[in-house]
Order: sequence, then C-alpha cells, then structure tokens
Amino acid sequence: MESMWLGIDIGTGSSRALLVDGRGGIRAGYTAAHEDMRMERPLWAEQRPENWWDAAVEAIRGVLAKAGVAGREVRGIGLSGQMHGLVILDGAGAVIRPALIWCDQRSQAQVDAVNAAIGRENVVRFTANPVLTGFTLPKLLWVRDNEPRNFERVRKMLLPKDYVRFRLTGEYATEVSDASGTSLFDVVRRRWSFDMMDGLGLDRAILPECHESSEVTGRITQRAAELTGLEAGTPVVGGGGDQASSAVGNGIVEGGIVSCTLGTSGVVFAHMEEVAYDPAGRVHTFCHAVPGKWHVMGVTQGAGLSLQWFRNQLAPGAAYDALTAEAAQSPAGAHGLFWLPYLMGERTPHLDAGARGGWIGLTARHTRADLIRALIEGVSYSMRDCLDIVESLGVAVQSVRASGGGAQSAFWRRLLAGILHKRVATLETQEGSAYGAALLALAGTGEYGSVQEVCRAAIHETDSVCPDVADAAFYEKGHRVYQALYPALKPIFGEIAAL
Ligand code: XUL
Repeated sequence: MESMWLGIDIGTGSSRALLVDGRGGIRAGYTAAHEDMRMERPLWAEQRPENWWDAAVEAIRGVLAKAGVAGREVRGIGLSGQMHGLVILDGAGAVIRPALIWCDQRSQAQVDAVNAAIGRENVVRFTANPVLTGFTLPKLLWVRDNEPRNFERVRKMLLPKDYVRFRLTGEYATEVSDASGTSLFDVVRRRWSFDMMDGLGLDRAILPECHESSEVTGRITQRAAELTGLEAGTPVVGGGGDQASSAVGNGIVEGGIVSCTLGTSGVVFAHMEEVAYDPAGRVHTFCHAVPGKWHVMGVTQGAGLSLQWFRNQLAPGAAYDALTAEAAQSPAGAHGLFWLPYLMGERTPHLDAGARGGWIGLTARHTRADLIRALIEGVSYSMRDCLDIVESLGVAVQSVRASGGGAQSAFWRRLLAGILHKRVATLETQEGSAYGAALLALAGTGEYGSVQEVCRAAIHETDSVCPDVADAAFYEKGHRVYQALYPALKPIFGEIAAL
C-alpha cells in the first residue's frame, strides 16, 4: 500500500484536489467547477458554500478514481481556499445565507463605521492591517446592519475552506493565514483580536478555533468518508489561505526569495521572519502558513486581466503566445508608450477603487505590437511598485520566483527581470495552492520535520533569467515616468466618475 497526501483548494471558479506522494511528487489532479458567482448588484459577489462542498466531494472522488488510489492510502489532507469570504452558520450548523466572497465590495459604510468605532490607527495596531471592504469583518457587519433576522441566527462564522473542513471533520476550525484576512485577528500575536470583537460588541463565541497551518485540526467523519471515498479518521491539517498555500507550493518559506504570481491579479509575496507592516496599509501583512512566521504581499488587481481584456476586446481568438510574440517586435519602452493596469481599481500601491486604466503617450506611429508591449510593461511596473514596498519593510530580496499564466511566457519573464531588476526563476511544479496544501499535510502528519524541510525536498527551480544591464537601466527611468502618471491623473479619475 502506497502513502499519499491530498491538497484541496477551494478557489473562486472551481475546487481542485491534488494527490502527492511522500516526496511531494504529483500523482494526479482533478478540478470540479463551481456555479458562477452571483452578482445581483454592482459590487456584490456571492457564492453558495454548499456548492463548494459538492465541488470538493466531486474533486476528491475524481482524483482518487483518476490515480487509482484507495481512501485508506491517503495519510493526510490539507485545505487551501479563496480568502476573506463570510460563511455564517446557525446553531444546527446550517448555512444562513450565501457567502459574501473576497471581491464583494458592498461594505464601505461598515468599513467607515469600524474606523469610527475603533479608530483607524487602533485597527492597524490590533490587526496589522487597515480594514478593507474585501475583508471579512465589514461583510459580517453588513449582514448585521441589513439583515438583522439573519444576523440573530449566527452562531459561527467560517472562511470558505473552513466550511469544507467543517463538512469533512465536523470541527469549527481555521488557521492563522486565513484568519489574518478577517480584520478580527491579531496578526502579531497569532490569535483572535478580542479588542476588535469586544470593541464592536460582537460575540466571541462565533469565532472558530484557530490553529497553526500545519497542525491537525480534525479527522474525517464517517459521513464524510461515505461521501468522498476517504477513510474515516484521516487527519486534516489547517492548510492556508490561497496566497499563503501557493507560497508554500512555490517554496517561499525562507528569507531572500519572493514570488511573483501573474494570474488574473498579480501578487508579490515575501516571507518574513519578524513581523513588519506598512503604516499606510498598501501591502497586507498576514501570518504565514509556516508556524511562527509572517508574510507580506502586494496585490495588483489587473495583471493577467489586462492582457485578457486586450485579447477579448481587440484581438478576439488570438493565442496569448501570439500576442507576446507580437509584443517582442516592439523595443523596450514601446516607443514611449505607457499602460496603467488599473482596470479594476488598484490595491497596491494606491488603495483606490476609483483608479482607471489606459494607455498614455499614444502617437500615430504606434503599432499593435507597441500596445501589447506597453501593456506587459505597465503590469510589470505595477509589480515593481509592490516589490519596492516589500523591500522598504526590510525584506531582502535576492531573487523572484514567477508563476501564473503570465509567467508561462519567456518574453514576459525576461522583461520582468529587467523591470524588477532581479533574477527571475520558474519552478518544475506550477500547481500553486492545492500543492502547497498537500505539502502542509506532509509536514503536519510528521512525514517531514517542518514546512521548510518538505519544501526543500520537493521544490526545484527549472529555469532562470538575469536582468540585462542596459534594459534594467532603461526601465529604472521608465518606472519613474510610470509612477508620475497616477498622481497626475487621480483628480481626472474623480471627475470621470462624477460625470
Ligand atoms: C487575497 C485575495 C485573493 C483571494 C481570492 O487577499 O483577495 O487571493 O483569496 O483568490
């Protein structure tokens, strides 16, 4: 009988289950789609937790069947998931209403109310971050303010992956990395913030128990075993929020290396031995999925999204490879053209939902190749903005590990090396969050001594590119121009919105 470990990621579009062996080698993966998120009104985004559970069951059954692995061969399970979502349960453990998920932005009034009640500086002192509409607390307060009958019934609040944990194990539990994104967690002391709960008159009893990410949080129940094909009693470790799990999957568990994920959004993620936070709140400081460590991350909302938008609107049907090959025909700087990637507002560095995107510097001689090159450069400048803030917090960065759709392009990786002025490497395994969750299960069930140890054994770089000196010097100047564009345009964005 072979031993296997299972990572499950509850994403936004789908849930993915991944089986790995004792050395972290991938045996099989299976993805089960979710229902589309419901966006009943602008800024609203909801999903049904029961649908996540159904998808998780399908993915677990699917991966076991695909790999020909029996449930009793699975020695441990780790969970990862979309962060910040609000799942509320009644006294019988039933879901009260659909979850308000990470990108739901309806709760600005509740953010303002938290800042008024607690004080903006105190919020940062208690939780290491400002409260944002994306985070969980204001979503809970929105339910209190707008759906009092639902709020009265709340006995537990959970994060998305932790609802799946509840269905798998019967335990109300979470772990430090995901708890960090609730605005109710004392990130420095790694425990719930009673200053926040009490200050807002919230009942402490609704919080689940919080563990370190590699700790065992519960075991598969008989009922879950029947539904999934897993064996009753199999341990389930804490796991992590999708970004922390993905960082474990990319080996970002020690100082010196940061990851740069070019997905729909772009994330620069760094490990921290000692906690530090940006007083302006432009980057998030959260507990890492590595026990006793932290991480800092900057988020660009419209990274891969910029290229996706370009393709959908201006080059329908074109392959991404063809678009990046076209961009390579344009020189560094795209003949003086700049792209602002703020298609969905911006988190880092501007924290401005009202920021808007666009090309600046167009002339009649620009070609489509210039448009695409400028777009890729603009997204990369935005990643540089994130990296600069991370470095300003005292994080020493020797090299960057690139992942996500954009990192598939050698052209984009080379360009990124020039703009970040760092060596950019790629990894053998590009599985991200589900892989990180499986590695946390390997560490948490005692197969390895620590998360760092399993990452050292399982994760290997395949390819790397160093910045070209001339390009890097050019992009330093380009970055300064790019950085001057947003402040100059900010008043205009306000006027556009007011039109
Ligand atoms: C992290 C964040 C996203 C979501 C959805 O702050 O908002 O990573 O977890 O993927």
